[in-house]
Amino acid sequence: MKRIAILCSGGEASGMNPALKRFVEYSYELNLTPFFIYDGLNGLIDNNIKEASFKLVSGIISRGGTIIRTSRSPRFKELEFREIAFENLKQHNITMLVILGGDGTIRALDIFYKEFNIPFCAIPATIDNDIFASSYSLGVDTALNSIKNSIDSIRDSASSFNRAFVIETMGRECGYLALISAMTSGAEICLIPEVEYDLEKIRTKALQQIKNGRTYFIAVVSEGIKQSSEEIALWFEKELNIEARVTKLGHTQRGGNPTVYDRVMAYKFVTLAIDTLNSNHSSSVICFNDSHFEYKSISEVSNQKNILDQELIEEAKKFN
Ligand code: F6P
Repeated sequence: MKRIAILCSGGEASGMNPALKRFVEYSYELNLTPFFIYDGLNGLIDNNIKEASFKLVSGIISRGGTIIRTSRSPRFKELEFREIAFENLKQHNITMLVILGGDGTIRALDIFYKEFNIPFCAIPATIDNDIFASSYSLGVDTALNSIKNSIDSIRDSASSFNRAFVIETMGRECGYLALISAMTSGAEICLIPEVEYDLEKIRTKALQQIKNGRTYFIAVVSEGIKQSSEEIALWFEKELNIEARVTKLGHTQRGGNPTVYDRVMAYKFVTLAIDTLNSNHSSSVICFNDSHFEYKSISEVSNQKNILDQELIEEAKKFN
């Protein structure tokens, strides 16, 4: 029986566990032997590779995180460790790899593929949703729902106290999480790295709103903007004379029970990944755009800087 392995790399994302469950079940359906590589690319180097089983994936569909764990692996950047990783796969007779991770992972695996010719299929999985050529990455829906719940709760406090809240989301250089959250939570202000903002203009607008009866503000800011959340809070106090608090949502955004959407997408992504590998296609990334899945080459995805959709950029400008 052909042997196939799966690993998670980079920040974990809800939906990884449902993906692992589907991976085991579909592999068996196709008479493949499924393997788990624990601890991401570090586990590939350290030979933390074990045969998977139904038992290992029972009851995991509702859990966030990843039962096989993940890592960021500086070692994998060095050839000597990639050689060890290759020897480990050879030892287990594993000839196909499914990878769940972000674009750093995809790039690393592309190098590995070119050196050792181990076919792999990458599934975009990161709450940042910042992978070029795919409008959706596994985990972003759960993260957005989690952020929505937090903002809804913070609003209760903001409105009770007449305060401004600066709520900081993750996302690295990508403002997707912040922008969608601001749009869907009725925030008054949204600051993201992709759009220049003018605090003087925002101040004029806010003062008009205060005159018109607004008593509190919700500002959703992305972690990648130039100013810190604390600086934005000070600005509220100094320029608008409104008491302000900062909430950094941090890693609460990454965890939690995967949404229905992320579970469905995990199922479909993994099915397509196994199908392409099992029909002897070498390496690709599965992208999801305009309600369709498509296989793209690694170079199409990994050498380009992700740009936020123009429509979303226009929405972000409206907050200015
Ligand atoms: O890439 C996912 C992400 O959650 C980013 O949004 C964030 O900047 C980073 O990972 C945090 O990394 P760590 O979990 O290593 O602190």
